Amino acid sequence: MFIESFKVESPNVKYTESEIHSVYNYETTELVHENKNGIYQWTVKPKSVKYEFKTDTHVPKLGVMLVGWGGNNGSTLTGGVIANREGISWATKDKVQQANYFGSLTQASTIRVGSFNGEEIYAPFKSLLPMVNPDDIVFGGWDISDMNLADAMARAKVFDIDLQKQLRPYMESMVPLPGIFYPDFIAANQGSRANNVIKGTKKDQVQQIIKDMREFKEKNKVDKVVVLWTANTERYSNVIVGLNDTMESLLASVDKNESEISPSTLYAIACVLENIPFINGSPQNTFVPGLIDLAIRGNSLIGGDDFKSGQTKMKSVLVDFLVGAGIKPTSIVSYNHLGNNDGMNLSAPQTFDPKRSPKATLWTTWSPAMPSFMSPASILTMLLSSSMFHMWEIARGQWMNTHQRYSWCFTTLAEDSLLAAPIILDLVLLAELSTRIQLKAEGEGKFHSFHPVATILSYLTKAPLVPPGTPVVNALSKQRAMLENILRACVGLAPENNMILEYK
Ligand code: NAI
Repeated sequence: MFIESFKVESPNVKYTESEIHSVYNYETTELVHENKNGIYQWTVKPKSVKYEFKTDTHVPKLGVMLVGWGGNNGSTLTGGVIANREGISWATKDKVQQANYFGSLTQASTIRVGSFNGEEIYAPFKSLLPMVNPDDIVFGGWDISDMNLADAMARAKVFDIDLQKQLRPYMESMVPLPGIFYPDFIAANQGSRANNVIKGTKKDQVQQIIKDMREFKEKNKVDKVVVLWTANTERYSNVIVGLNDTMESLLASVDKNESEISPSTLYAIACVLENIPFINGSPQNTFVPGLIDLAIRGNSLIGGDDFKSGQTKMKSVLVDFLVGAGIKPTSIVSYNHLGNNDGMNLSAPQTFDPKRSPKATLWTTWSPAMPSFMSPASILTMLLSSSMFHMWEIARGQWMNTHQRYSWCFTTLAEDSLLAAPIILDLVLLAELSTRIQLKAEGEGKFHSFHPVATILSYLTKAPLVPPGTPVVNALSKQRAMLENILRACVGLAPENNMILEYK
């Protein structure tokens, strides 16, 4: 059964006019080991830590500024939200379609809240804590192409024609602000669309981005802004001591107009300086160590990297199943024909490298969950051409060293943006929400926000950015459980453990 909303009644939770306050026992473990005659003996000690959470329940009017607003993802997201907000329906050759938010974790998925009369009761994920309604988001952003969003939507070829016709009047007047463009960072084949660029030095460009964000906020009367990079994949920046390894060196390099500081890093610097959350949806190393240092010292949220859409999500689910079942994945071979514009951008070797890397990381970071005899030998081959298929194959080593193969073929017809758009939505909604949550552990004097490197977003990103020294979790089910359970803790609910002991 499905319920629309619920309220928690517990001595550990207090709802006031402006916040939800919860007290929460975090059950965890502490590990110790002893070396006895050369053999390690491990002991696991259960440990309980008392936490308090405070969630500001005032839902702000939210502005979302996209870098690469006029691209396939930017135009698909903007059009999709308008279609939902306006209740647009459109005719296809099969039937009349209605706008929806399917594919969005926050808008379309549910959580189990308990059982009632022998039935499992589910509520919308978004009912856990007060969140921004996506229909109310004001969109804006930058693009190195000055094409308006209606023409950009037509160029993207994602939506049906009837839907495009109905969206056009809403999107024609939306024109991206000039962007920061250095031809060296993306493929040469993108140069022809760069007719909308910010002139001046890197310092001038950072100042311009700051000015743009302030003006956007003022003009649209929004309380908060979140910025997200959905522009083309850049090449990696070289990380060099004295250039971009610390906050000081990075800011000095901007002042000196150093050529190795990428456009994406400049947008991110502007956001951190303004305390505006910045999320990177592409795989390049926007978050050089100096930028992470700047964000930590400024306590400003950064999250990334690279949207985890179709192919990677399916692989991470299948590998989760294999590892959980005690079956050894022996190789993943992936063949990816992309038909969209960023696929063309990725045909240059320098921009393709960052794209390959998170996929390989996803694979190799599975190894901690596997017994040592299972360590994976990975083969990851990504080939690109101008057609429109993803194909991949996972080989598994099973009982008595026999082998099996799974082969998948996605025919996404260059419409990957239909997968990316709801992910972008979740990223900005959850980033905004997480800035309203404060916590403190037993013994900590003051409440503080989450660590500025937002690991809470890792379900949505291919190569989750984590603070130095923090484990990366890549299993999709664990990432979702982490997010859900943290939000449950904010309303004093125990983690979902699926034990259903009352029926055992
Ligand atoms: P796209 O090529 O259609 O759009 C990118 C837009 O960025 C273009 O309009 C371009 O003019 C603009 N741009 C390039 N450099 C810029 C800069 N420095 N400043 C401002 N604008 C700039 O690409 P699409 O399909 O929308 O993808 C966007 C990004 O999302 C790509 O980096 C892609 O790798 C990433 N991504 C997409 C996924 C998907 O499923 N669609 C999944 C994972 C990542």
